[in-house]
Amino acid sequence: MKTWSKEERYRVLKSADEIKALHERTILSDYRQHYHIQSVTGLLNDPNGFVFHDGVWHLFYQWCPWGAVHGLKYWYHTTSENLVQWTNEGVCIRPDTEFDNKGAYSGSALPTSDALYLYYTGNHRDEDWTRKSYTCLVNLMDDGTPVKLPPLFGPNADYTEHQRDPKIIEQNGKYYIILGAQTKDKKGCVIIYTSDSPTEGWHFAGQLKVPGFEDFGDMWECPSIETISGYDVLIFCPQHLKLQGRGGSVHHSGYLLGHMDWENLTFRPDNTSFHVLDFGFDSYAAECAANPHDRNKATLVAWMGLPDASYPTDEEDWSGCLTLPRELRVRDRRLIQQPLDELRALRGEKLDLETTNLLPRVSELELISRGGDLNLRLFADADGNGGLTICYDDDAKEITVDRSGLKKRFNAEQGEQRTRPLPKGLFHLRVFIDRSSIEIFVNDGDAVFSSRIFPTNGEERLFISGDASVHLWKLNRAVTDDFVV
Ligand code: FRU
Repeated sequence: MKTWSKEERYRVLKSADEIKALHERTILSDYRQHYHIQSVTGLLNDPNGFVFHDGVWHLFYQWCPWGAVHGLKYWYHTTSENLVQWTNEGVCIRPDTEFDNKGAYSGSALPTSDALYLYYTGNHRDEDWTRKSYTCLVNLMDDGTPVKLPPLFGPNADYTEHQRDPKIIEQNGKYYIILGAQTKDKKGCVIIYTSDSPTEGWHFAGQLKVPGFEDFGDMWECPSIETISGYDVLIFCPQHLKLQGRGGSVHHSGYLLGHMDWENLTFRPDNTSFHVLDFGFDSYAAECAANPHDRNKATLVAWMGLPDASYPTDEEDWSGCLTLPRELRVRDRRLIQQPLDELRALRGEKLDLETTNLLPRVSELELISRGGDLNLRLFADADGNGGLTICYDDDAKEITVDRSGLKKRFNAEQGEQRTRPLPKGLFHLRVFIDRSSIEIFVNDGDAVFSSRIFPTNGEERLFISGDASVHLWKLNRAVTDDFVV
């Protein structure tokens, strides 16, 4: 595996020509996705600035052009009219000022009647590599030109260098920016700035109080506070923390349901449970967009990957894709995530499982259970061995996803099995398979498992046992590999 020098990782992209050959090589990969947003070259991590503005969905991602490595980060821009078909628009925010000299890090968007503002962390490093975070602002013009405005504020001396990922929130005529941060005694937290204007006059308001979560990981990345179906939801990624049922993973993406008191900067969780957003192996840095038509819902997308992890395509010099956007609601005091209705338009040929057990690499499987145990083996060999398994145990009332049977194993130290209790049993599954990922929606959005998988030749069969009706469709393409930089 290639080792990257600092100079290589932080090399500035001066012209698209510098990565044209890399792109041509990348798109030949057997693992390029057909309906998930993926890196144009190099590495993709967090989704950023997800927003609906003037009839268009905008979604950006953290991008390092040079290879499967975290280095100098740009915001790469994609757009869609329906959240299914996505168009590559090219680089939007470049790390080309003193404030963001070592990366345009994650952030969010605010649509107003006359502008689309993008808030991001300017990751500045001094000569001695000391990090300073600036909260920066871009006005994205209608013609796509990003105009940088002066940074809103710099680093807060009362916290460590870890302070980033601005989420802009408008509340009762005031604006708030919340940032993920680390206290000097190494506890993860959220800090809050406020202003009457989205573009100026920002000042520090205080640290968010979250009773019961004062000592919960050493850094909280990508925080946001959403209001969905009348509930406030604090979504964040606590780091360096072991959680039951999460194998060796130490970075998590999850949420608390509760009530946000903006006067007193206090988020009061309803109970003491931190809920994991996604039970699969690869999901992090989730970002929500408000639903322009229905305030009871939001749309969530996440990086289908993890920090400090490596993936089989690293050796092909690219890595990273986003999850499908999902519709978010609250049911039974939990967030539920459902595939968007618009996705049904991708369904192509319906396959007859009586006559074939070949599992297409780009497909959707729907299963309606009639009760009892269920076992699915996907991408097994012709003898029915190996592959990824989804097992529901009706006595234990739990579902387990296990990817240890696939030939290409990776991040095994983080655990290769994930189990989720289903107290009411299993009645429904929708499984979305793309060339290198699987997303399993359980019981109408009650639980989701998102994972990267990298089937090889001969890993192509589907075996199902249990009492259920099963439907399988090929899915059509919804993203293209256009070279737009
Ligand atoms: C989360 C994260 C963010 C940061 C970005 C840098 O994955 O570490 O905190 O802004 O990635 O790419």
